Amino acid sequence: MERHHLLNRLLFGGIALNAAKLEHAVSGKCILITGASSGIGEKTALLLGNYEVRLVLIARRGDKLQAIKETIEARGKAAVTIMTADLRNEDDMEKVLGGLRGLPYGMDIVVSNAGLSIRRGIEESLERYHDFTRTMAINYFAPVRLLLHLIPELEAKGGQIINVSTINARLAPFPMWAAYQASKSAFDVWLRSASPELRLLGIAVTTLYLPLVRTPMIEPTNAYADMPAMKPDQVAALIAKAMYSRRRLWKPWWLGPGELASLFFEGLAEKWFIFKRKGAKRDGDF
Ligand SMILES: NC(=O)c1ccc[n+]([C@@H]2O[C@H](COP(=O)([O-])OP(=O)(O)OC[C@H]3O[C@@H](n4cnc5c(N)ncnc54)[C@H](OP(=O)(O)O)[C@@H]3O)[C@@H](O)[C@H]2O)c1
Repeated sequence: MERHHLLNRLLFGGIALNAAKLEHAVSGKCILITGASSGIGEKTALLLGNYEVRLVLIARRGDKLQAIKETIEARGKAAVTIMTADLRNEDDMEKVLGGLRGLPYGMDIVVSNAGLSIRRGIEESLERYHDFTRTMAINYFAPVRLLLHLIPELEAKGGQIINVSTINARLAPFPMWAAYQASKSAFDVWLRSASPELRLLGIAVTTLYLPLVRTPMIEPTNAYADMPAMKPDQVAALIAKAMYSRRRLWKPWWLGPGELASLFFEGLAEKWFIFKRKGAKRDGDF
């Protein structure tokens, strides 16, 4: 436990959140969080719910959103609107956009966080084209659609977009993760391309390139059970901190050298993967 604590500290650092600065930055603001029913989105909502903000929380599980709304509103600070929606679904998306249009106070900050990850090899994906369409639908098309709608309001408010991305978008792609990495990279590239134009409009853009985070998303992957991972509370603090620093990006300190190493050693990493995979096939552990 202690070993993990020290390793986590070394890999991810401490996050000192300045409550006074945060309060000043968010008081009276309207903040949209997609994927607020679980993991990073839930922790971010609970953290921001300590301040006088208007939160709009979106996810498919309305019961979870309702429970989060009740917890936050019981504290007597924030007002919470929940929108139960599958953001991949055209009708649900239209309802969300209609609901956002109806908000009297505009939008200040969007935390683009809802996401789906799939770990599956290409051989196992031959009959699963839908894995690629559903990851693109939630990780790429949904945030693009939402943001296109919200850009005029964000411009009017001098607002901010915070993208919850992954280190994978900066590294050479890992095998077994084609659907997830392609879709997260698609949105990362979209936002990086749009960012200078958005900044010209007075909209701040922040991207968090996250390593592993211990949330329900990684539970199905046994290999991650004992790996060092950030806590969702730590990421919530990073997101909140970005609201007063308005910094362009956050990444763990080792990602810069990691990006270089992943370029230089891509071939070697591939050889290692093929060697391991052949061994696993031979042993029937596949
Ligand atoms: N965990 C990690 O290791 C890690 C690392 C890097 C980046 N990230 C990114 O962090 C973000 C949050 O993930 P998490 O780790 O907190 O996972 P999580 O606990 O599984 O949360 C995912 C959230 O997205 C929502 N969501 C998924 N599909 C949706 C849909 N079709 N429509 C509306 N909402 C949907 C889920 O709510 P419902 O199920 O209620 O709809 C849930 O609230 C993701 O974008 C992920 O790519 C995670």
